[in-house]
Amino acid sequence: MSRAATECGVRVDVADGRPALYEATLRNLQAEVKELPAVWLYDERGSRLYEEITRLPEYYLPRREGEILRARAGTIAGRTQARTLVELGAGGARNTRVLLDALDIERFVPLDVSAQTLRASAQAIAAAYPRIFVHAIVGDFERDLDTLPGRGPRLIALLGSTIGNLYPVQRARFLATLASALGEEDAFLVGVDLVKDVARLEAAYNDTKGVTEAFVRNALDAVDAELDATFDQQRFVYEARWDPEHEWMDIGFRARQAHSVSIQGLEIDLAFEEGEPLRVEISSKFRREQLELEAGRAGLRVESWWTDHAGDFAVALVFADGKDV
Ligand code: TRP
Repeated sequence: MSRAATECGVRVDVADGRPALYEATLRNLQAEVKELPAVWLYDERGSRLYEEITRLPEYYLPRREGEILRARAGTIAGRTQARTLVELGAGGARNTRVLLDALDIERFVPLDVSAQTLRASAQAIAAAYPRIFVHAIVGDFERDLDTLPGRGPRLIALLGSTIGNLYPVQRARFLATLASALGEEDAFLVGVDLVKDVARLEAAYNDTKGVTEAFVRNALDAVDAELDATFDQQRFVYEARWDPEHEWMDIGFRARQAHSVSIQGLEIDLAFEEGEPLRVEISSKFRREQLELEAGRAGLRVESWWTDHAGDFAVALVFADGKDV
């Protein structure tokens, strides 16, 4: 990890995830169902589009989560006594401010793959909260979990239903790594979108302004630019549909016609059949029992489960099993 800059209460560390990303890209594009790692979504333009998504009327998730956090922040502060707030996949860190307002925090550690977004939000938070030292980490929360800084008690937050973007096996691995990283005093706060009416779920990823489509399409441009690839927007149709078997949104493209794409940076040519899918992201939706079960398997315990007034979204406060509160 390289230490990049320290200025007025902000430190930024950069972990170079590019080699691992290229390797994963090569592997995922050669899998049975072709897939692009979701990290490609979050370049500078993608991160801006994502911020725009969070304000769309169809995309209810951040508003529901904000409602829950505002109602429960005081309780979270009391139960955790947190002095360090770590936010995984922090992005613009908007709902985080609700926590920063309520907790008595000395250090905020946002971690995100998008360097530009992270720098901007780290600086904004340092300016708005002069007593808090901001230690930002450009990295991948699936990989950099075991090296998180900060004195205890720490609260590690994963908001925005980002945990739903992991496959069940990745999620199990993440929860297990988290369980080993959590000290006795530490806690984990996770926001999850809940299984609900299919029309509303599909609308949340098919907004009428086309912002979500532009966001996902941007991943193709990012790969074209960085890996010298020939993904052609015209040849792919955007598709986000509910998969009732896995209870996740399946988000990506279908090839309009048979064609091939060359990726010089990875030294491969990819053949697509007509109608063949190219997945970019899944967004799993949750049920309480399922999350409790998965947490339990990893040695974690869901201490509180809070939902918004409509029952759309939930925030869970989780401790390492065996901790008395
Ligand atoms: N964590 C967000 C979610 O699952 C990420 C997200 C929102 C997303 N909109 C998207 C990912 C569109 C891919 C495509 O809802």
